[in-house]
Amino acid sequence: MAVLYDTRRYLTNFDSARIGHILTDVLVIGSGVAGVRAAIEAARHGDVILITKESLDESATSYAQGGIAGAMAGDDSIDNHAEDTVRVGVGLSHPDIVHTVVRDGLERINELVRWGARFDRDGDRIVLGQEGGHQRRRILHANGDQTGRELVRCLLARLNETPNVRVFECCFLIDLITLEGRCVGAVTFHEQYGHQLLWAGQTILAGGGGGRVYRETTNPQVATGDAYAVAFRAGARLRDMELVQFHPTTLYVAGSSRALISEAVRGEGAYLIDRGGDRFMFDYHPDAELAPRDVVSQAIRDNLAKTGGTCVYIDVRHLGQDWFARRFPHITRLCQEFDIDVGRDLIPVRPAAHYMIGGVAADSAARTSLEGLLCCGEAASAGLHGANRLPSNSLLEGLVFGAIAGQTAGARLRGRGQSVGPAKVKAENPISRSTRLDLSDIRNSLRSLMWRNVGIARSHELLTETIEIINFWGRFVLDKTFDDRDGWETQNMLTVGRLITAGALHRGESRGVHYRTDFPAEPDPSKPAYHVTQQRSGDRHVIQRDPLTG
Ligand code: SIN
Repeated sequence: MAVLYDTRRYLTNFDSARIGHILTDVLVIGSGVAGVRAAIEAARHGDVILITKESLDESATSYAQGGIAGAMAGDDSIDNHAEDTVRVGVGLSHPDIVHTVVRDGLERINELVRWGARFDRDGDRIVLGQEGGHQRRRILHANGDQTGRELVRCLLARLNETPNVRVFECCFLIDLITLEGRCVGAVTFHEQYGHQLLWAGQTILAGGGGGRVYRETTNPQVATGDAYAVAFRAGARLRDMELVQFHPTTLYVAGSSRALISEAVRGEGAYLIDRGGDRFMFDYHPDAELAPRDVVSQAIRDNLAKTGGTCVYIDVRHLGQDWFARRFPHITRLCQEFDIDVGRDLIPVRPAAHYMIGGVAADSAARTSLEGLLCCGEAASAGLHGANRLPSNSLLEGLVFGAIAGQTAGARLRGRGQSVGPAKVKAENPISRSTRLDLSDIRNSLRSLMWRNVGIARSHELLTETIEIINFWGRFVLDKTFDDRDGWETQNMLTVGRLITAGALHRGESRGVHYRTDFPAEPDPSKPAYHVTQQRSGDRHVIQRDPLTG
């Protein structure tokens, strides 16, 4: 247990007597696969407002390349898919949740096909790709390596036809509103209309992940971890925040974004080689390039330390330039932008923060510890991924748990009658008189610190130093009352950086994506697996180990 460095409940000052109110049955926050699927489902039960901080199609989902996993092949089964998911999760997956997702995921995928999703086919047959940790070919993809865009296109077309849904774009979630221990909606900032209070019978948090707290990340600009910070301030329980997945292969060219070079590329037979031309993955795992993602990222880190390289390389030359360009048109174009000819050149890559496995603890019905708040998608920790996520399981989770969250919201609305009406609520933070801040400098410093100290390899010493630095920055960043998104996001990023680091310090073992250099590389099988939970309680930050059933 530790005293909070900032006891503030709301980031902004507001007074319900002075700002606009909007009432709805269900408020959905976020427009990735989970949020949109949740809105479509919830709209069967009542009025829905979906808010998103930029345009509807700007979410991590849009950037997903590899695909969506589904046990559709003749030689595959739900049990095989579940077994792979649990094995790669290193003891932290919840088998019942895994089974639900891989089973219901097939129905959700078929539903998408009925709604017009165009997965790549060979004649009538959907083509299935291979990715690391999956023992079968089971990855559906679209336009080669643009699966996320196709899912977004399909889901948004469906949303557009769905009655009862209002969409507010450019609407930033500042905080969830709680009254008497219950979530009753949110205070938001709309670029056009300013502060608003959105009152909701049920709120579904699907605000995505927080990879932007790391300097090296595949995540889009919007992924600043707002959902975690907001839920934490509201008192919801968070789980396993230290479990950050690093994608092994992102383009490493100065000036480029850390764009994915999809795992599917290795699935189709690409090699990983180091600066000396050595195909080094066989030194680390019998499945070589198709080992689980945590193994590949840690192997690359180790190889770079040994060879003194700054990156390793993906070699696709033997796959044939024309075939590669047809199978991976987006990656081919991306490489061309940096003068990399995939038929002739090696593709320089390095790991980068990719996916937050931990998040707001949610149960099999997407319920959180906070009454009135449901959570799904990357924002949630639902128990599917364990300590290491299988590639292409996250779009699946978003679809399945989006639909579940919408159903639960509907059931709760029926149980409770009408939505919550406007109430008196007010937040008054003291106005800080301390110095003006260079927010981009704070963000860059935080992102570098997190990459350096809380990245692929962690230790007690580095984590303790990180907490001290974040606490120090927090003293003059978290006492401010900002009136714009840049300020609020920066505050959220500091909170999320601290939650990840505190979790990493508390998890005294290496497990899956969480590798501690001061502990053995594998968890001790004689010790029971546990979740690390974090929760705000009054002015305290409570952090503890909970048994797996928790
Ligand atoms: C990839 O295409 O490698 C990313 C897939 C994922 O993270 O699920």
